[in-house]
Amino acid sequence: MKFIAEIIDISFEGLGVCKHPDGYVVFCSGVIPGEVVEMETYRRFKRHAFAAPTQIIEPSEYRVKPPCSYQGTTPTKCGGCDWMHIEANHQLELKKRYVLSAFEKFKLNFDSDVIEVMGAQSALGYRNRARFVSDGSKIGFRGGHSHDVIDIEKCMVLQDNINEKLKVLRSKPLAASASYQVDEQVNIEKIQPDNQTPFQQANHEQNKKLGLWLKNTADQIQPHKILELFCGSGNLTQHLVAEGRSITAVEADSVSVRVLNEKAFQGVKGIRGTIGESWLGRLDLSEFDTLVMDPPRAGFAELSELIHKMPKLKNLVYISCDVSSYTRDIAKLQKKYKLADFKVSLLDMFPNTHHIEILSSMTLSK
Ligand SMILES: C[S@@+](CC[C@H](N)C(=O)[O-])C[C@H]1O[C@@H](n2cnc3c(N)ncnc32)[C@H](O)[C@@H]1O
Repeated sequence: MKFIAEIIDISFEGLGVCKHPDGYVVFCSGVIPGEVVEMETYRRFKRHAFAAPTQIIEPSEYRVKPPCSYQGTTPTKCGGCDWMHIEANHQLELKKRYVLSAFEKFKLNFDSDVIEVMGAQSALGYRNRARFVSDGSKIGFRGGHSHDVIDIEKCMVLQDNINEKLKVLRSKPLAASASYQVDEQVNIEKIQPDNQTPFQQANHEQNKKLGLWLKNTADQIQPHKILELFCGSGNLTQHLVAEGRSITAVEADSVSVRVLNEKAFQGVKGIRGTIGESWLGRLDLSEFDTLVMDPPRAGFAELSELIHKMPKLKNLVYISCDVSSYTRDIAKLQKKYKLADFKVSLLDMFPNTHHIEILSSMTLSK
């Protein structure tokens, strides 16, 4: 059933928030706070529903025409760049807005009145990796709120070299229900369905800023003995290296750990391990003064328990790509520890999407 509502807020998942005339909350894709929209529900739960717009009745001044013809909110359109209809600076405003409202909801007592938001110079042609899906005849990305495969010949947010690889992939026989992970290293001639590639940050330009932020942060806190969790192949580790510092860096992916150790950074020891409560029990945690972590979306729910086992820990540097797991982990920590010098910056790793990286550092005391 179609209905009309005003978009009053933006959710952590980048969806417009409004109220159905019957009173329940509706999350709508492809809209902007302030807009009046006709929409249609496609999934209904007891207390909330999901909808897609059928007509923008009163458009926002920040609405722009997406430059990509594949982009959209219906199952026949690509759901990848969910914020391409929003003007670039306003995207940053909205990212900051939903992060701050999450911090408020979980009562995170961070220091800064003004949060630095590091926007990107290039909103197109920036992605250096992608996971394409195939149904046997088409290859591309999934449609808006559907599992249908949208056939994509060229994607505007991908680097040229990744689009070139997509072209090669399209010329090959495709598996019926599979994904293909493509990055700059993958040998596209030999690629297999459902392959896995080691993690790498998807945006070179913004990754440089992330590295610089970490180096400056480390220069300020002057750590001596660092435990780095979820280290990948050392993308962040390299910025922590300094005379007189030792770094124990932990990662589940064996290829990434091998690559890290081959780099032979001064004072760095890469260890393979699947981080979780049982695994952490195996590590001597008594001497570390600093914990640096960059977990996947799920965050690290055992953070508080880990810190409990680190008697000399003073500094925490937590980089996150998911506001929900981040606020959950820090809120739990705040119950047991006093957090001071709690600094937060935001980095736009994925322009044209709702995603944002949270970069934070703090000191801990009992
Ligand atoms: C967001 S990435 C960060 C990687 C690295 N910091 C970088 O900038 O390239 C998260 C990393 O955590 C690793 N990972 C995921 N779950 C893990 C687990 N349970 N234990 C150890 N590493 C894990 C992934 O393989 C990935 O390399």
